[in-house]
Amino acid sequence: MTTAADYSEKIPNNVDLREDRRLQRALESWQPNFLSWWESMGPTLPTRDVYLRTAVSVGREGWAHFDHVAMKDYRWGIFLAERDRDRRIAFGQHKGEPAWQRVPGEYRAELLRLIVVQGDTEPASVEQQRNLGATAPSLYDLRNLFQVNVEEGRHLWAMVYLLHAYFGREGREEAEELLHRNSGSEDAPRILGAFNEETPDWLSFFMFTYFTDRDGKYQLGTLKESGFDPLSRTCEFMLKEESHHMFVGTTGIDRVVERTAQLMTEHDTDDVIAHRGIPLEIIQKYINFHYSVSLDLFGSETSTNVANYFAAGLKGRWNEERRRDDHQLTNESTMVDVITEDGEIGRAEVAALVGLNTDLRGHYIADCQIGINRWNKSLESAGLTQRLRLPHVSFNRKVGAFKGIEATPDGALISADEWTQRKSAWLPTDVDKTYVRSLMRPVHERGKIAAWIAPPRNGINGKPFDYEYVHLT
Ligand SMILES: [Fe+2]
Ligand SMILES: [Fe+2]
Repeated sequence: MTTAADYSEKIPNNVDLREDRRLQRALESWQPNFLSWWESMGPTLPTRDVYLRTAVSVGREGWAHFDHVAMKDYRWGIFLAERDRDRRIAFGQHKGEPAWQRVPGEYRAELLRLIVVQGDTEPASVEQQRNLGATAPSLYDLRNLFQVNVEEGRHLWAMVYLLHAYFGREGREEAEELLHRNSGSEDAPRILGAFNEETPDWLSFFMFTYFTDRDGKYQLGTLKESGFDPLSRTCEFMLKEESHHMFVGTTGIDRVVERTAQLMTEHDTDDVIAHRGIPLEIIQKYINFHYSVSLDLFGSETSTNVANYFAAGLKGRWNEERRRDDHQLTNESTMVDVITEDGEIGRAEVAALVGLNTDLRGHYIADCQIGINRWNKSLESAGLTQRLRLPHVSFNRKVGAFKGIEATPDGALISADEWTQRKSAWLPTDVDKTYVRSLMRPVHERGKIAAWIAPPRNGINGKPFDYEYVHLT
C-alpha cells in the first residue's frame, strides 16, 4: 500500500490512479473544467504565489508540505486515509459485516445523494469567499483564506473521485453539475441554504469558518463511519485538513474580541465605533446569525431518511465506535425539540433512530460552546463583565420544528409582529453590515495588521507573523 503521492502525475493521488486508465482519463477530462471553474469562480485577488500547505501523504508523520506556490498550480490531489483491511461496519443492520469496497446496489441512490450533497458544499464556500482577498486584514490572514480555499477545492476533488470511480455515467454527470451550480445563483443555486448566503466581510468569514465549517466537520464525522469504505477513508482524511479551517474561525473571532476588549478598556467605553473597532453587540449579532443558519444545516429534529441511512450502514453517529450501546438503536428512544400541542416550545420522546439529527446537532452545539467560553475568557481577563453567548435553538430558524415560529435569543416565543419590531437588536442590520464593511480595508503590507483585529499569537508552520506569506502581483 503506497501512501505517498506521486507528484509527477497530473493528479497527485494515493489511490493507484495509474492502474485504472479509464478512471484516470475521466478525471483528466474533468480537470480542465475544474480549473476554469477556479479561474472564474475562485479567488479574485491576483497573486504571484502563496505560502500553502499541500497534502502529500496521509501517514501520521509529515502528511503536508509547505511552500510558496502559484495558486493555479496548486496540486489538488486525491488522498484517502489508509485502508484497514479488517474494517467492519460498526452500526445498523449490517453491523459486523466487512466494510463495502464497492457500492451496494440497493443503496446506490442514497450513497450518490449523500456524496453529491457533501460535494456541493465544498466549491460553494470558495465561491462565497472569492472577493475577501481584496480586503484581507494582513498577509497572514490572506494566506489562511487561500489555504481554506484550496483545501475546499481539494475536498471537491475528493468527492468527484468517488463519483467517477464508483457511480459510472451518473457519477460523471453529477461531477459536472457540481461545477455548474453556484452559490447564490438564481437558476442553479447550491443545494443547502447556508451555502447561498454571502460572505461579504472578514467577520462573516471567521463566523463561517467557525460555525459553518464546523457543521461540515460533524457531517464528515458521520460519513467517516460509513460502511462504504472509500467514502469513510476519504472523509477521514478531509477531517484532518478541516481542523485548520476550525482554527482559522476560532482564532479569528478570538482576535476580533481581543482587539475590541482592548479598545473598550483603553477608552473606557462600550462604543468602540469611534475607535474603528467592532462592538461586542455587533459580534453577538453575527454569532446569532451564523449559528442559527448553521443549525439549519442539521435538518429537521426528526428524520426518517436519516434513520434509514443509519439502519443501512451509510451514515453513522459522531464517534460511533466510542458509543456504549448496541449501535442499532432499534428499541431506543430519545428527546427532541418540538412545538407542543399548546403551541409552546417543548420536548417530545421519539424513536432514537428518527432523532439522529438531534443527536448530531447536540454534539455540534457543545463544540460551538467551547469557542464562546474561550472568547469570554479573553473578555474576563481584560476585566470586562460583558459576555458572548449562543442563542437558543429556536431563534431565527428556517428548518425543523421552529421554522414556523419566532423566538427571542432566550427562547421565548414571540409574535411575528414583535419579531419584526425587535429583530434588529438580534441580527446584523444593514447599518451594522455597512459599518463592518467600512472597516474592511486591505492591509497587504508585510508585518502590518488592520486596526479592528489583534495580530495572531503565532505564525504558520513556525514562521513569524511578519513573514511574506503572500506575494501579490
Ligand atoms: Fe471541506
Ligand atoms: Fe472546510
